[in-house]
Amino acid sequence: MNDHVAQTALRIADLRGRFITHERYAPLQDRFRLLIEKRLADITAGRTSEAHGIALSGASGTGKSATTAHLLSKMQAYLAGSSLPDATLISLRVPSPATLKFVGQTVLRALGYNLTAERQAWYIWDLVRHQLRERKVLFLHLDEAQDLSARGTRHELDAVASMLKTLMTDADWPVGILLSGTEELENILNHDPQLARRMDTVHFAPLSPVLNVPDVARLIAGYARRADLSLSGEITDITLSERLIHAAAFQFGLVIEMIIASIEVAFLEGSSRLEWRHFTAAYTLRSSCLDAFNPFIVSDYHRIDARKVFTREMA
Ligand SMILES: Nc1ncnc2c1ncn2[C@@H]1O[C@H](COP(=O)(O)OP(=O)(O)OP(=O)(O)O)[C@@H](O)[C@H]1O
Ligand SMILES: [Mg+2]
Repeated sequence: MNDHVAQTALRIADLRGRFITHERYAPLQDRFRLLIEKRLADITAGRTSEAHGIALSGASGTGKSATTAHLLSKMQAYLAGSSLPDATLISLRVPSPATLKFVGQTVLRALGYNLTAERQAWYIWDLVRHQLRERKVLFLHLDEAQDLSARGTRHELDAVASMLKTLMTDADWPVGILLSGTEELENILNHDPQLARRMDTVHFAPLSPVLNVPDVARLIAGYARRADLSLSGEITDITLSERLIHAAAFQFGLVIEMIIASIEVAFLEGSSRLEWRHFTAAYTLRSSCLDAFNPFIVSDYHRIDARKVFTREMA
């Protein structure tokens, strides 16, 4: 029995470890790659021009963190074979509170540099700029970038925004900025036109419960295949995909999480076939809701606010 559980955990980890290249990925990678090529070309020619950045926004669960992590690891591998093989990309989560000083310390830590003494913000950022150049950092990725504007005072937001501009316009070593976060991230750009001018914006929109049904059906089939599960006839029915999109609050990443959770239920019961009831059970496990609020059970599932269920779950 324990063996079976351990085996399931391994198989689920394997499924979770895979990145699905969705249609929004290629345009994002192309843009990012272009910015990197421009920097590499400048470095080769001994020129400096201002770096540019990308701001990726989208609702919680859409897949921003997963996508940026995949993008950075692919591009890091690409850089290894480029004209500047030791160039690096650095990624971190915006800390809370997002004061100028605390953000600076977190960037330093991401650069592998440990501050031993208490320092002032200007000192920390001087060190950050020095380390960015030393480590040949081309891009700095800040995830959960909406937190830069959350709770912090307007003064702190101004300070962080102007520091990001300073990094991008550095005369010796300009660094590109990749920001990812929920829609409130757009407030930061709206707040600072000078920063906004230097950033391309990319938005991950919610799934359409109509247009994306075939994509979701393919996604279920693909995951089932990788999990070595056959599909019961009802699974290929489009109504399952419609309900799944709704249950996942229209977010791509949450759709994937729910497919994997349903496969886990099937694994645990030793089933070799993925069935509708596995989705029902996975939803119940996740949200501990009554059947009346389970979109895989009730017929008027449109009335269920899946986002609320998740909020309640996380609270
Ligand atoms: N392309 C993908 N391939 C495989 N799994 C994915 C993909 N995109 C998202 N996921 C999975 O979906 C879930 C949610 O994605 P992620 O954490 O990236 O969302 P997010 O947009 O960063 O949300 P938040 O704003 O709450 O941080 C994660 O479990 C992630 O592994
Ligand atoms: Mg995230």
